[in-house]
Amino acid sequence: MRSQIISATALVAAAVVQGKTCTKFRYEFVRLNKTDAALLVVDHQIGLSALVRDYEPAAYRQNIIAHAALGNLFNLPTILTTSAESGPNGRLPKEITDLHPTAPFIKRNGEVNAWDNPEFKAAVKATGKKQIILAGIVTEVCTAFLALSLRAEGYEVFANTDASGTFNDKLAADANRRMEAAGVHLMGMFGIAMDLMRDWRNTPGSAEVLPFMDKYLVPYSLVARAHGDAIDNGTIIPGEAQILTV
Ligand SMILES: *[C@@H]1O[C@H](CO)[C@@H](O)[C@H](O)[C@H]1NC(C)=O
Ligand SMILES: *[C@@H]1O[C@H](CO)[C@@H](O)[C@H](O)[C@H]1NC(C)=O
Repeated sequence: MRSQIISATALVAAAVVQGKTCTKFRYEFVRLNKTDAALLVVDHQIGLSALVRDYEPAAYRQNIIAHAALGNLFNLPTILTTSAESGPNGRLPKEITDLHPTAPFIKRNGEVNAWDNPEFKAAVKATGKKQIILAGIVTEVCTAFLALSLRAEGYEVFANTDASGTFNDKLAADANRRMEAAGVHLMGMFGIAMDLMRDWRNTPGSAEVLPFMDKYLVPYSLVARAHGDAIDNGTIIPGEAQILTV
């Protein structure tokens, strides 16, 4: 361990000697804070959903609704935006607009990068938040362009990778690398929710978050339901007894 620290220090020194910056050893762990964060729903339109091939359609629909619902769960200022929604891109799913009936909703009529739309930009600035959680269709355009613009403006940016979709895995990887190089944090819905919650004893905590996971994250739902059922009316069967004592 000690020699690892020494060699890391030596590497930093070597990088400085060569006139290079070495950020690898100066990583800052930026954490989400529900009082500092706003949520953006970017072009999760029904027409555009047909372009998404790096997720199964049913899972992806669940993921984008879950993304929008994070705003309700953690009481985050939420902004919706669409691109040319009267055309083939289509509208937002009703489930999403129903979750945020009073949120600012900016219907862009041309700007590809939502940040180029003055009304959208003003709505984001009006939240007064410095951390932005976002997701969009497609990843390399609607998510990445906006995420990079937000980074350029000094925001801390968290891209929900579960709710950003595109034509294939390679394009998703390319877009994620590009965002990551700009300091965008790539996280799935569960990671974002856990960082916002921080502690299961908080509010929102287990009482609010478990029902949310039950709805939007099936594996976690199974964990909670199986445990709850076992407590409610469970009996250890032969075979389990041995496993539990190992
Ligand atoms: C979040 O930020 C506020 C101030 O903006 C601070 O009071 C609070 O302690 C932070 N919460 C966490 C969990 O860090
Ligand atoms: C509880 O489990 C027993 C079998 O162990 C079963 O007969 C009973 O119907 C169960 N009760 C409930 C409320 O599920």
